[in-house]
Amino acid sequence: MNFNDKIVWLTGASSGLGEAMAKAFNAAGAKLILSSRSVSDLQRVQASLPRQEIPSAVLPLDLRKYEAFPALAKQAIALFGNIDLLINNAGISQRSLAIDTPFEDDLKILETDLIGTIALTKAMLPHLLERKGQIVVISSVMGKINTKYRSSYAAAKHGVVGFFESLRLEVEDLGLNVCHILPGFIATNIAKNAVGITEAVLKNSRNALGMQAAVFAQKALKAIHQRQKNVYIGGAKEQLAMLLKRLMPGLFDWFIKNQKVT
Ligand SMILES: NC(=O)c1ccc[n+]([C@@H]2O[C@H](COP(=O)([O-])OP(=O)(O)OC[C@H]3O[C@@H](n4cnc5c(N)ncnc54)[C@H](OP(=O)(O)O)[C@@H]3O)[C@@H](O)[C@H]2O)c1
Repeated sequence: MNFNDKIVWLTGASSGLGEAMAKAFNAAGAKLILSSRSVSDLQRVQASLPRQEIPSAVLPLDLRKYEAFPALAKQAIALFGNIDLLINNAGISQRSLAIDTPFEDDLKILETDLIGTIALTKAMLPHLLERKGQIVVISSVMGKINTKYRSSYAAAKHGVVGFFESLRLEVEDLGLNVCHILPGFIATNIAKNAVGITEAVLKNSRNALGMQAAVFAQKALKAIHQRQKNVYIGGAKEQLAMLLKRLMPGLFDWFIKNQKVT
């Protein structure tokens, strides 16, 4: 699997899945543009890339500041002359009941995971169509199912699935691949960084027991390389939950309502 000479713009590159994918893309020969809000964390990731001889760049990005994206897209393209892949990975999760979630936090999740992700994709769409490149989006199992403590996160991720699977119908015959990756539980700081997290909930979080981020990254790169459409990467339990939701939604709701969600 090689991405030699490919130019990849990766959001959420400062942590977790983004950090692991950055290392995997660099090892596979891609030139990387690393984006998120924390410049120091992006620089730490850049310094840890295994093949330092391959050019990479840090480009700060806040997904909630979407008015800046048309200019930022131009800046990103100018860094290496063009972009072949946009990886929409950045996101923020939730660990609070709807009634306890301040509306500002609902907005934070929706603007980061859904609106900003759509806006960045639209800013890059003409260029990626011209390149016959790829748009990758990291949604979540929560884009297909629902649980307590995730109301706005599930809303955002359902929206992501709807937008990108519709977009695919418009662009795939024009040579632009939309690769939609749904992770299950992967061991990252997603729970620690979630809106509404408490120490007690964090202690019992199942994310820490999930798949290793480096393993996720290898599977994700393989799917991207093969220009796949929809790929689930994670454990069997989450996959079973998606199947139950699709085939027996009433039973799914009963089951999930009676589960201890962490
Ligand atoms: N880990 C899992 O179990 C899991 C499961 C399903 C889906 N996912 C999805 O996978 C993606 C990556 O999550 P992760 O597990 O790697 O979590 P993470 O370790 O918390 O990383 C989240 C990344 O998103 C960036 N980010 C957050 N808010 C941002 C904003 N406003 N603008 C730009 N960047 C922002 C963060 O960087 P800064 O703080 O530097 O901005 C960070 O790089 C997310 O979309 C998440 O929903 C993860």
